[in-house]
Amino acid sequence: MAPPAMPNDLSTSWEVTDFVVNQGHGVKGLSEMGLESLPKQFIQPLEEQMLLNKVVPEESIPVIDVSNWDDPKVEDMVGRAAEDWGFFQIVNHGVPVEVLDNVKAATRRFFETSAKEKKKYLREHSQSKHVRLTSSFVPHSDKALEWKDYLSLFYVSDEESDTFWPPVCKDEALDYMKRAELVGGKLLQLLMNRLNVKEIDETKQSLLMGSKRMNLIYYPKCPNPELTVGVGRHSDVSTLTMLLQDDVGGLYVRKRDTDDWIHVPPMSGALVINVGDALQIMSNGRYKSIEHRVAANGSKNRISVPVFVNPRPTDVIGPLKEVLESTGEKPMYKQVLCSDYTRHFYKKPHNGKDTLDYAKI
Ligand code: OGA
Ligand code: NI
Repeated sequence: MAPPAMPNDLSTSWEVTDFVVNQGHGVKGLSEMGLESLPKQFIQPLEEQMLLNKVVPEESIPVIDVSNWDDPKVEDMVGRAAEDWGFFQIVNHGVPVEVLDNVKAATRRFFETSAKEKKKYLREHSQSKHVRLTSSFVPHSDKALEWKDYLSLFYVSDEESDTFWPPVCKDEALDYMKRAELVGGKLLQLLMNRLNVKEIDETKQSLLMGSKRMNLIYYPKCPNPELTVGVGRHSDVSTLTMLLQDDVGGLYVRKRDTDDWIHVPPMSGALVINVGDALQIMSNGRYKSIEHRVAANGSKNRISVPVFVNPRPTDVIGPLKEVLESTGEKPMYKQVLCSDYTRHFYKKPHNGKDTLDYAKI
């Protein structure tokens, strides 16, 4: 395999973007050239750089032991964490450690394949619109590029996954996705119970988690980590997100209603759970979809694997009738078609929680 072009071959901005985005090298390819400084496309506006943001090391998001899902204390802790923090970690969730290790190894394996191989999964080449390798978030609309590559897998069926997901990671990815989905279902049951939704019938099930997406994310080490970000400030559009991270760290969560940022420390075997916009809308604002971001790292590559459970694109969501009836509250959000909401999210660069404004009354 020919070595990648040397940095000084990439003298124009267009060449960097072309190398990273179009040729399949990704940000990882750029990182591996041993650049001394960050190409300017990746320099974030000052206010987005981590240095200027206040990190409060003494705070942490809740860690909840869910070994007994039927314990009312577990429901209480999960519910309160979703209301107060929108983010928490769970341990003893029942997903075997091998499944977690396998999907992490599979993620690394995928990103270690050649640019030629990875190119097959870029938007222009992928044989399925449900499988897409992207470098940075929406490269064409971002103000500045993010220091990451990710393979996004939208689940349609086992057959589709078997045919189109990359062979080096498909089995492990699918296995993990199904386990994470089960955990998501259990959490949603507890969270719904607290909202007076006593039974999750088929329609509710579909509304809460009728579609699933999983991303295999690679954050390469970065020459000037303080000038860029792994992922910019955003909240997720999902109902719930279950995220597996390796032991590097770098995920920061905004403390609700403050400008403080809190680090989510890697915990072996834990899953990081967060409420997404769809659940905030359905709960009429009771559960909080919180802004988060990932800092770039100067010395280590990091991987993470979020699984997003979502309504289906054709679903219309709004505050649940049971919530409005039991609380007597006025709806804070309109009824929105999920595909419109998601389209709105992808149309603009990451900018905190402003996607939710789209649904506000
Ligand atoms: C995301 C996200 C965080 C991480 O993909 O939406 O917030 O730690 N990822 O990778
Ligand atoms: Ni996110």
